[in-house]
Amino acid sequence: MAKNAGLQAANKAKKDEFYTAYEDIQLEMNHYEDKFKNKTVLCNCDDPFESNFCKFFLRNFNYLGLKRLICTSYRTSPIVGAQMTIYDLLDEPVQRGNGYVMDITEVPMSNGRGVSDDDIDKLLKSKKRGVGKLAGDGDFRSDECLEYLKLADIVVTNPPFSLFREFVATLVEYNKQFLIIGNVNAITYKEIFPLIKDNKLWLGASIHSGDRKFYVPDDYPLNAATCGVDDDGRKFIRVKGVRWFTNIDYAMRHEELDLYRRYYGHEDEYPKYDNYDAINVDKTSDIPCDYFEDIGVPITFLDKYNPEQFDIIKFRKGNDDKDLTYTVEGDTIATDRQTDRQRITPYFRIIIRRKL
Ligand SMILES: C[S@@+](CC[C@H](N)C(=O)[O-])C[C@H]1O[C@@H](n2cnc3c(N)ncnc32)[C@H](O)[C@@H]1O
Repeated sequence: MAKNAGLQAANKAKKDEFYTAYEDIQLEMNHYEDKFKNKTVLCNCDDPFESNFCKFFLRNFNYLGLKRLICTSYRTSPIVGAQMTIYDLLDEPVQRGNGYVMDITEVPMSNGRGVSDDDIDKLLKSKKRGVGKLAGDGDFRSDECLEYLKLADIVVTNPPFSLFREFVATLVEYNKQFLIIGNVNAITYKEIFPLIKDNKLWLGASIHSGDRKFYVPDDYPLNAATCGVDDDGRKFIRVKGVRWFTNIDYAMRHEELDLYRRYYGHEDEYPKYDNYDAINVDKTSDIPCDYFEDIGVPITFLDKYNPEQFDIIKFRKGNDDKDLTYTVEGDTIATDRQTDRQRITPYFRIIIRRKL
């Protein structure tokens, strides 16, 4: 591999190393509690000693009624804040060539009040725990990891963002249910949008704005305003634009969006596109209640999307296959001075239509 290509790959891999906070997993999982009974859950980008996904499902194994929990880790996943590592457990020097797997079908509790951290500790240390080395590096695309994928009913994880498209494509190919974290801009990917349009993938319930805290490796440079260190000394970054992506249904998704604005009488506030017969809306809250033709909305509309209320018609492009644009007359900052008109191309628009 050329030196530059190697560096680029390493940089990319480094950017993928950030770890989800327990509270964020809990907040999202609250919406799907009844969907996990008797299911095999796979966390396939998750070091059992590092990942809060793994911790969450161990703690809630009995409560959710899981059948089996499988967590596989990737070889580059560094040790961040865990008290004990898989390497201690296996009495091995740290090796970065292999991934590891934890495969569990029961989580004993020392008392009836639920799974405690001690219970988890004991389980992970126990000889019967089912933790072992993978033959390969733990790449979710490797044959042995795909065998685990075949066993799974639901995949829950925060996958490497650099491989998000491929990760989703693999889950779809194997016909799996999933609940995964990604960046809101993934909506705009040509591989992802058709799934959203066809109602095979939607945004999760709990994150719709703001930023989220993710833990980072100890050697992560803390040079941005969005970085910090927890009380227990773990470094974190705050990341904007985070969303859950899923194909598991949840109740809130069927709540109707209240519409307050009117189109008729306010037509000048809703310009029509030059290259598609639809009106443009800049904020989801401005969708008019009296307009039943096509409407262009920003991608954040999907945070409120109820499939019984709206159809998704198309994405981004007009009839000429170019980005949707509209023209504003008499604007003071006109780009075309002769005609005093300004052509505007709003950032990615989704064309929707009311069903009701
Ligand atoms: C964004 S981190 C999230 C880690 C963990 N799922 C969590 O949420 O705390 C993505 C993880 O995927 C791992 N990874 C990178 N490439 C991978 C691959 N090809 N297959 C499986 N895991 C991979 C990285 O090592 C990293 O730990």
